[in-house]
Amino acid sequence: MVNIRPARPEELDAAIALWVEANGEIGVSATGHHENLQIWANRDDAALLVTEESGSLVGMLLCLQGRTDDGLGDVILALTHLTGLAVLPNLQRVGIGQELVEAAIKEARRTGRNRVTLWTREENDVARRLFDRCGFLPTGRRGADERGAITLHFERAI
Ligand SMILES: CC(C)(COP(=O)(O)OP(=O)(O)OC[C@H]1O[C@@H](n2cnc3c(N)ncnc32)[C@H](O)[C@@H]1OP(=O)(O)O)[C@@H](O)C(=O)NCCC(=O)NCCS
Repeated sequence: MVNIRPARPEELDAAIALWVEANGEIGVSATGHHENLQIWANRDDAALLVTEESGSLVGMLLCLQGRTDDGLGDVILALTHLTGLAVLPNLQRVGIGQELVEAAIKEARRTGRNRVTLWTREENDVARRLFDRCGFLPTGRRGADERGAITLHFERAI
């Protein structure tokens, strides 16, 4: 059982740094995405969940208020959108990623949301198995990330 909590505002840079490290080559090259994470995390209606080990952040997940047009349009009150799930490589495969997602679902339920969505890269088998374990189903939508990799859209009813 890991301790998951909302990040303090001054922890945002450290969280983004861990996201870059967790994503390896993709993290370094995906400047568009980590800049977006920084902007989205600063919104009043966003919640950045983190977990720490020995005083350092080791995992993060950003929970966004759902909006139409994939985040560009009007608020969808009943929807939470997840992005930026990351766990430092040396602490992967002990369950932190799943606990972060489960904590986000619990918080979404507590705040009256009835569904949670996310995108992941088609080739990201680890993340796809994790989301499958957490009850997410494919919606059939496909997209592309900032680097042009195919992404798939998933949804979980709560
Ligand atoms: C995807 C990511 C967040 C998963 O984080 P994680 O903390 O390793 O996730 P979990 O530990 O919950 O699950 C990962 C695997 O470890 C296994 N595992 C979990 N606890 C375990 C334990 N105690 N002993 C052995 N294996 C364990 C899980 O069964 C899972 O196995 P699988 O890949 O065969 O399905 C992480 O790999 C990461 O940061 N990747 C880079 C960024 C990324 O791709 N993010 C997702 C974007 S959508």
